[in-house]
Amino acid sequence: MRIIVGITGGIAAYKAPQLVRLLVKAGHEVRCVATPHALEFVTRLTLETVSGNSLYCDLFAQTNNHTTEHISLKDWGDAMIVAPATANIIGKMASGIGDDALSTLLLSFSRKPLLMAPAMNTQMWECPAVQRNVAYLVSTGIEMVEPGTGDLACGTTGKGRMAEPEEIVQALARRLSRAADMPLRGKRVLVTAGPTYERIDSVRFIGNYSTGKMGFALAEALAARGAEVELVAGPTALKTDNAAIHRTDVESAREMYAEATRLFPGCTAAILSAAVADYRPEHTADHKLKKQGDEGMTLHLVQNPDILATLGSMKQEGQTLIGFALETDNEQANAQRKLERKNLDYIVLNSLRDAGAGFGVDTNLVTIMSRNGDSYTSPLMSKREVADEIVRRCLLPESATLLANNEV
Ligand code: PMT
Repeated sequence: MRIIVGITGGIAAYKAPQLVRLLVKAGHEVRCVATPHALEFVTRLTLETVSGNSLYCDLFAQTNNHTTEHISLKDWGDAMIVAPATANIIGKMASGIGDDALSTLLLSFSRKPLLMAPAMNTQMWECPAVQRNVAYLVSTGIEMVEPGTGDLACGTTGKGRMAEPEEIVQALARRLSRAADMPLRGKRVLVTAGPTYERIDSVRFIGNYSTGKMGFALAEALAARGAEVELVAGPTALKTDNAAIHRTDVESAREMYAEATRLFPGCTAAILSAAVADYRPEHTADHKLKKQGDEGMTLHLVQNPDILATLGSMKQEGQTLIGFALETDNEQANAQRKLERKNLDYIVLNSLRDAGAGFGVDTNLVTIMSRNGDSYTSPLMSKREVADEIVRRCLLPESATLLANNEV
């Protein structure tokens, strides 16, 4: 999984590289976010070397993709650990203060497992204000990895030592295996992503602008909740190294059809976000076609199979089928027709009339419509957040009421 390790300015920060090393050894991908004070105790170079990734520290650092780092990182991470967590970061988090990269990220990191490993002097730990803040954070679902008792850096003995890195890794493993955080454990979900290419000849094809970002975000969101994902991807440059995502690459609509219809019977749900070509050239030349001159050239197209409609006809009791609708006009009515005609449980409508939605971009704005008439319209969000909402509102136990009430 993708784990963010937050490091704050306490002497126990010297144990952070060991924590990162253990997480990497356990198979996680790790990114570190440190406060400027943390870097008085442990170096940037050490944290970048053990994590294998850049360190985040400066809220206003220029990034090459011009995204706000704390926003893109919160989407990236499946879980977060703050170790050591000083009284200062605990207090800021409990009060909703975001004044640096880490505290700002923490405020936006919601609905995912978050652990804090406090480390401070005994009197500070026992201070009623700190205890009040800790109790409040625990009541919001944040898990405290209790500090241990022993010799402290200030020369005294008592409670306040940060838990050992091994204990923190175990606490994370326990947390990640909790049913509440892994509601899709044991479920296999099919996802289609990206475009299809329909060959004209050995050098040309009919394609579309889909990049696969929406489908890959769905696959990640499902895997983060414990699902085993069968990802059938059209031609895309995207990569995934998540062990819970089993990827099959295809090129054409017919290849995607063959894989999707093969995999669907073994899945409890399918989300079809691929932009599949409706038509393909009737004949494919095995050489490069030559220019035809002034009269132009005619390509005869034949219809591709409709993968979603076929899955709709194959669907059994207990399977959930979710389609997408990419529209440019009469959006709701067109999506509603597709929902009914293809026998779907839900359809996710995105419109090219909404800025920041649809092909290529990192964001989307969707309306999720259910077959019983309920719907939810999201704000413009990252594709990973949209994916989280689709999973939450269509596949998790609370989904029915969330959609009916259009609840945030
Ligand atoms: O990949 P990105 O760059 O991130 O862009 C994401 C997206 C815009 C591609 C995605 O959000 C999206 O809208 N996907 C569906 C695009 C589409 O083809 O929509 P449609 O309205 O033409 O198709 C309706 C549904 O039928 C879709 O679920 C589609 O996967 C499915 N379909 C369509 C044709 C076909 N032959 N077989 C299908 O299964």
